[in-house]
Amino acid sequence: STSYPFYGEHQAGIVTPAQDRLHFAAFDLTTESRDELIGLLQDWTAAAARMTQGQGAGPLGPTSGSYDAPPDDTGEAIGLPPSRLTLTFGFGPTLFRKDGKDRFGLADRQPDSLRRLPHFPQDNLDAAKSDGDLCIQACADDPQVAVHAIRNLARIAFGRAAVRWSQLGFGRTSSTSTAQVTPRNLFGFKDGTANLKAEEPALVDQHVWVGAGDPRGAWLAGGSYLVARRINMTIEIWDRQPLGEQETVIGRTKAEGAPLSGGTEFSPLNFTLAGSDGEPLIATDSHVAMVHPDNNGGVQMLRRGYNFVDGSTGLGRLDAGLFFIAYVCDPVTHFTPIQTKIGRADRLSEYIQHTGSALFAVPPGVKQGEYVGQALF
Ligand code: HEM
Repeated sequence: STSYPFYGEHQAGIVTPAQDRLHFAAFDLTTESRDELIGLLQDWTAAAARMTQGQGAGPLGPTSGSYDAPPDDTGEAIGLPPSRLTLTFGFGPTLFRKDGKDRFGLADRQPDSLRRLPHFPQDNLDAAKSDGDLCIQACADDPQVAVHAIRNLARIAFGRAAVRWSQLGFGRTSSTSTAQVTPRNLFGFKDGTANLKAEEPALVDQHVWVGAGDPRGAWLAGGSYLVARRINMTIEIWDRQPLGEQETVIGRTKAEGAPLSGGTEFSPLNFTLAGSDGEPLIATDSHVAMVHPDNNGGVQMLRRGYNFVDGSTGLGRLDAGLFFIAYVCDPVTHFTPIQTKIGRADRLSEYIQHTGSALFAVPPGVKQGEYVGQALF
């Protein structure tokens, strides 16, 4: 089948096997009306339920309806299959409180963990590529299908919400299912080897889905938190590094993605095994040593990032990198400590720069007849 169900216990696009393409958009509300916000979520739900099944955004479609009104679908997906489109919706901290103002009467329902991420060491964030009241992650195997979905959802939002920033991505950088081969990121390394996989439901329950414990976040139970980080890679500098340095930085081989402590791609990492010089074979400041669960109190995340190339800078360098997306049950325990540590000490930090950042709470799945995030209202 080339389509995934829209309705379900959890939103699609999280444990769904990562598709090839991404269009991610963050929105700011332009209305202060609670009813208009709810109306927007209802309209988005209806359009998402249709588009993920390969139908037009509205019931009339791109080429019928009144001659005197714009069509309820823009048309560029005519004839294209659903392409495994998933649309995943999230709520940013500013939906609940912005500049001290509670625009929608939601402030008492803001979970403690839904706060703007702190400033991390070496962050160089662009406000025009960060934050947002709402987000939509569109993933599909065809970029035209993902772009069509975001375009139509933005059109539907007109007068209620406007796109704040958006990001295209290609070449998924993570596998989220054991059925997928591990793809490569723009540093040329396999990415996603040790990722949380859909086939590990107990670990996904433990590390990805929000539990029922938070009194202000009861509406979020069965949902997740989405951490988005636009990470530029200094490709030209990386490309001048010897293979040995590249492998030391990551802690795995470039060819197979095997740990430098030995074995094959999926062999366990051994952080104590030392070489003839007495130094650990996996350097303590290598990326995998920094982020591995054993060295972070057992914490795991479900990574679902994409490569991006947004053309070149005026200096002739690629404006390229990894649009990092991670789903976690709580960013305070599952992201912030790790990012703080790697910003300071990860050898990979010499070759990357974080240029965008956002955090969203992703409500649980939608039941037929309901709208996304309904339990919040
Ligand atoms: C693993 C690359 C940023 C968390 C890996 C691996 C590579 C990689 C090649 C090894 C393969 C695998 O197990 O998936 C990169 C690059 C980044 C980046 C190029 C930036 C451009 C981050 C960030 C975080 C992170 C910001 C979180 C704060 C992880 C985790 C693992 C991992 C948790 C799995 C480690 C394990 O369990 O062994 N990354 N990464 N990565 N990365 Fe990153």
